[in-house]
Amino acid sequence: MSDKKIPRHLAIILDGNGRWAKSRNLPRLMGHRAGLRKLEDMVKLVKREGIRYFSVYAFSTENWNRPIMEVTGLMRLFGYYLRRKVDELKELGTRVRFCGRKDRIPEELLKQMQWAEDYTKDENAVDFIVCLNYGGRAEIIDAVNSLIASGAKSPITEEDLRKHFYLPDVPDPDLIVRTSGELRLSNFWLWESAYSEYYFTSIHWPDFGEEELRKALDSYAGRERRYGGLKS
Ligand code: IPE
Ligand code: IPE
Ligand code: MG
Repeated sequence: MSDKKIPRHLAIILDGNGRWAKSRNLPRLMGHRAGLRKLEDMVKLVKREGIRYFSVYAFSTENWNRPIMEVTGLMRLFGYYLRRKVDELKELGTRVRFCGRKDRIPEELLKQMQWAEDYTKDENAVDFIVCLNYGGRAEIIDAVNSLIASGAKSPITEEDLRKHFYLPDVPDPDLIVRTSGELRLSNFWLWESAYSEYYFTSIHWPDFGEEELRKALDSYAGRERRYGGLKS
């Protein structure tokens, strides 16, 4: 009998929406739309696999550097899908949570985000964590500032700092998947990824489906995590 290892926290860097669109001669925003559409299916699959925490990197603190048209279009799409999908997510037992800085996010979207979090707060099958305006460095800096503001005295410990992260109750990602061929973290879960496993695929995010998820999970199941110790 195989006792397959399932990540408790799966994180995905949703990359390649632009390239997906380009390869079809479509505007970049159509790629983002296709990418967002994929998410609902993915939450279903993740739930079926018994994964408890599912986080996605949807917009980084650096993505504000993109052309204003793309940024505004993306913010609009986030709001649109949030409004449309939150009931289905709730029915699936999904708690929707956002992770990142709240500044710069359009007020209308911010209100919707807060509403969605509140509306789904009692669900407990899957925590679906949307990292929006998230940066790993920003999170560490925000945690340090919040720790100082709380009157903490040095020396501080790792656990002290962790309590000031955006979502201190969420366990570190066990598996981080990045689509579309780039081999980097791009400022995602910097602190939390210290012992994460990685899976990279050249598939663009809007084409990522059940089969790809299966491959990533199979790869993870075959790994031995040692955390600096020795083979068990
Ligand atoms: C990922 O797709 C989505 C966001 C960063 C918002 P990209 O927009 O980065 O797609 P590529 O990398 O240009 O193909
Ligand atoms: C990482 O993708 C951020 C998100 C997927 C939200 P980018 O496309 O922004 O990353 P780089 O610029 O290729 O490193
Ligand atoms: Mg990209």
